[in-house]
Amino acid sequence: MAASAEILFAPHDLSEEECERRIVAARAALGDRVLILGHHYQREEVFRHADISGDSLKLSRQAAASAAQYIVFCGVHFMAEVADILSRPEQLAILPDLSAGCSMADMANLAKVERAWRELAATIDPDGMVTPVTYINSAADLKAFCGRHGGIVCTSSNARQILEWSFERREKVLFFPDEHLGRNTAYTMGIPLDEIVVWDFNQPRGGLTPEQVRAARVILWKGFCSVHQMFRPEHIDRFLAQYPDTQVISHPEASFEVCRKSHFVGSTEYIIKTVAESEPGTRWLVGAELNLVKRLHERYRHEGKSVHFMSPTICMCSTMFRIDPQHLCWVLENLVEGKVVNRITVPPREADEARIALERMLALH
Ligand code: 13P
Ligand code: SF4
Repeated sequence: MAASAEILFAPHDLSEEECERRIVAARAALGDRVLILGHHYQREEVFRHADISGDSLKLSRQAAASAAQYIVFCGVHFMAEVADILSRPEQLAILPDLSAGCSMADMANLAKVERAWRELAATIDPDGMVTPVTYINSAADLKAFCGRHGGIVCTSSNARQILEWSFERREKVLFFPDEHLGRNTAYTMGIPLDEIVVWDFNQPRGGLTPEQVRAARVILWKGFCSVHQMFRPEHIDRFLAQYPDTQVISHPEASFEVCRKSHFVGSTEYIIKTVAESEPGTRWLVGAELNLVKRLHERYRHEGKSVHFMSPTICMCSTMFRIDPQHLCWVLENLVEGKVVNRITVPPREADEARIALERMLALH
């Protein structure tokens, strides 16, 4: 039988209804050979097709546990890399749009982290004194760096536990790429702000003096999420002035000032659980991505809960948004034709080292 041709382009001229119908048909044809994972920040038209939804920790576990031949990851690039690393060799990880990256993850790269490690060595012995901790929002080669250097991966759900693990082994932590998650977590563990310094990767020696490096317990990479940094303390003040009964909840990628003013701080999954378990009639102001907040509002308004987005300007994750139903339809229809498009593969050696750092994290739960 002649092999069928690859479908070359995502069908952008399709109506939403037609696209929906074709996604459902392609999924039915693929059966349990395909597993669709959907991060909570995905738009609704994509999210509703997810077999499993979750935050990055939950989805990385699901990728590892899945029996499906194809794991279609509706999320961003580093998530599909994690799926490839943790899944079995015969399973394939697919990202519907290859341009769905993470701007925060891009703020750290291997050359800069290796340079930081060398520059730290001018003052201290990093391999004896520093645990490198990478947020899961990072490229696979940075996870591999952590695997090689006795380090570990964290997510926003387990950052505290991971820092505790790290301090049991070495006295300092180099935390990348998110400055805010690192500071918010370290501070709630009781580490004073003057023992937390920021490594500015654009400056020689991170812009730090040898004394600052020696005194620091946590060295934070100067990276951030452009979505979560939009939330400001004054947004909370203004909202509370109008609705004093509001409970404020933020993702730890938001700034220190925003997290200090919030009643609750936690990962995407924690935010969902907290709002879900709250009393009927409760009002919430949420410092997290817009698609998640809109979904929470829709899901709980029948219980009289009102869920509001923290920023007055719209700030959704534009890279998560690149996964649209048309791209999902395209990758699924290609799989029906026996063609794999947009496969994400991590080179074997890098994957082995990254897996060490990921498995150190997964073993803690
Ligand atoms: P979660 O770990 O909460 O899923 O966050 C991932 C992310 O990219 C948030 O911006
Ligand atoms: Fe990256 Fe921020 Fe988007 Fe999360 S919300 S994927 S950290 S850019």
